[in-house]
Amino acid sequence: MRKIIYNQYGNNEVLKITNIEEPTPMADEILIEVKSASINPVDWKIRSGDLKMMSGKKFPKGIGCDFAGIVKKNGEGNSKFKVGDNVFGWLPYKEAGSFSEFIIAKESLTEKKPDNISFEEASCLAMIGGTALIALKEKGKITKNQEILINGCTGGVGHIATQIAKVFGTKITGICSSKNIDVAKKLGADFVIDYRKQDVYQHDKKFDIIFDTVGNLPYKKAKTILKKKGILLNINPSGLFDILHGLISSKYKIIMASVNNEHLRELASLSATGKIKPIIGKSVKLDEAIETLSLLEKGERILGKTVITN
Ligand SMILES: NC(=O)c1ccc[n+]([C@@H]2O[C@H](COP(=O)([O-])OP(=O)(O)OC[C@H]3O[C@@H](n4cnc5c(N)ncnc54)[C@H](OP(=O)(O)O)[C@@H]3O)[C@@H](O)[C@H]2O)c1
Repeated sequence: MRKIIYNQYGNNEVLKITNIEEPTPMADEILIEVKSASINPVDWKIRSGDLKMMSGKKFPKGIGCDFAGIVKKNGEGNSKFKVGDNVFGWLPYKEAGSFSEFIIAKESLTEKKPDNISFEEASCLAMIGGTALIALKEKGKITKNQEILINGCTGGVGHIATQIAKVFGTKITGICSSKNIDVAKKLGADFVIDYRKQDVYQHDKKFDIIFDTVGNLPYKKAKTILKKKGILLNINPSGLFDILHGLISSKYKIIMASVNNEHLRELASLSATGKIKPIIGKSVKLDEAIETLSLLEKGERILGKTVITN
């Protein structure tokens, strides 16, 4: 089977498509034929060695955390899935490797794909949806009628977070560029700020939750637009001091996504009922994946997610 692997941390050139033997699932694992895998910025952050603390030092490594595909074989004692089931899920950072024809996934980090969404859409759910649920529900304790600000509301995490915030019946202000204003409104934003033309700090509104998916709303400034009991949620920590601040503060939290089965079940249910739907911006084959990763890492802007299909 073909899989993208690398033997040392580094730039995109360390990645190679390699023929390797199909792996065998152990207990609590399943062998999945990957139909689609989505690309996230964390993929190149892990590859470059920026997240060694989470990805470890064992090589060779695969790349890609999100997947959707078909169950081919169950490890001993597994009963949750049948061969032929359509599934989606998440590979933890240390076990990344979904840019491949086949993968071994943990049964607990795999869920049945709702019939009404494609493999491409399902392969986008885990990382961005898990991050949004951890931020908004678990850390932000989102509730009805709250004023929510989502910075980067049409980005990967932001566009799912906007849809999830809508499900909770909140009033959403989204920040994006002019070209994406209509999309932001369709996703559920009630007000949209164009970050090139308007300054969020001049906006006459205070928020219960600010979800910063971009990483350019530092707490010192953002607290001026937070309500008294408001909270800033950041998924792009800027160093140790920032992380410590997030640990001790009740008004500032840093999120490092660790997707679990509960998140996957909730995302499946939200998708099955049509409440959330990832936007697919671009689809490429495994042969084009390394070049595509390079373009995205260099800043190519695609509205919605880029997926690798087999
Ligand atoms: N900590 C975690 O667990 C975790 C989990 C997932 C992601 N992340 C991180 O979060 C970041 C976002 O991930 P993503 O997948 O959402 O990336 P993405 O799909 O590339 O989205 C980034 C968005 O940011 C917007 N943007 C760029 N400059 C902006 C500005 N000055 N003001 C407001 N918005 C701006 C872009 O909007 P336009 O195209 O309209 O310019 C784009 O939609 C990445 O750094 C990723 O590594 C962290």
